[in-house]
Amino acid sequence: MELIHTVAWMKQVAADARRSDRLLGLVPTMGALHEGHLSLVREAQRQCSPVVVSIFVNPKQFGPSEDFQKYPRTLEADAATLDNLGVDYVFAPPPEEIYPPGFRTAVTVEGLSDRLEGRSRPGHFRGVTTVVLKLFEIVQPRFAFFGRKDAQQARIIRQMTGDLDLGTEIVVCPIVREPDGLALSSRNAYLSASDRRAATVLYRSLAGVRREIAAGERDVVHLLASVRKMIEAEPGVSLDYAEVVDADSLDPVIALRKTCCVLLAARVGSTRLIDNALIEPAGDSFNVTI
Ligand code: PAF
Repeated sequence: MELIHTVAWMKQVAADARRSDRLLGLVPTMGALHEGHLSLVREAQRQCSPVVVSIFVNPKQFGPSEDFQKYPRTLEADAATLDNLGVDYVFAPPPEEIYPPGFRTAVTVEGLSDRLEGRSRPGHFRGVTTVVLKLFEIVQPRFAFFGRKDAQQARIIRQMTGDLDLGTEIVVCPIVREPDGLALSSRNAYLSASDRRAATVLYRSLAGVRREIAAGERDVVHLLASVRKMIEAEPGVSLDYAEVVDADSLDPVIALRKTCCVLLAARVGSTRLIDNALIEPAGDSFNVTI
């Protein structure tokens, strides 16, 4: 595995790979790697060679009162893990490589970026799309791999990639969960023992939605009322939002018809967590993927 710190060298390596007609795959991350990231890497390795994993804690996607300073930075351990997995390249640039002095540009996907996570974290998706566009320009991957846990992020990145004809195919991979259902996240490291127990309420409420839909419930108001009731009853957890939205437009839906998502965000102690379920029509019924 080769560890690359500069944009110039990363561009060179990627251009060489493209010249030899290889299918280059990119897994963008902020490091502090867990099994969720590793599942993206394995999927990338199944579909592509070479595989580049980027590790960059992107300051532009954190609000002024968010956890940019304390975000876990574990480059040495991450690089060793990726080396063991047989990853070809790790791109870990310092901030000034990505945002040199005088950097002024931002990219925004209108309409999808200011709702849900975007309403609670103003500017967050503008930071995400700006860095992802920059990474795509540097690496020019044929495929890029993202987790479904960040469902709104994946939707926005797919929109940007299509709108700007970037030529990168976005692959969205399943959520990886702990045995008790908690979705893996680098921020789970912030949870105290009691927060950790309480945090499973997100998964439990989504499992409740799945049960209710299997029993024939189709009324979104009713489904969301059950979710809110369960989350609000959990000590130490405060719900930010629970919405059922169309998977494409991210507009709220009132009845289940097309593919849609239940999107949740809550603060558990002082840690903000998100989770979601995908609801897809299947004949007369619906498949709910958590
Ligand atoms: O999902 C993440 O880890 C980040 O938002 C990403 C896509 C690496 C951009 O910084």
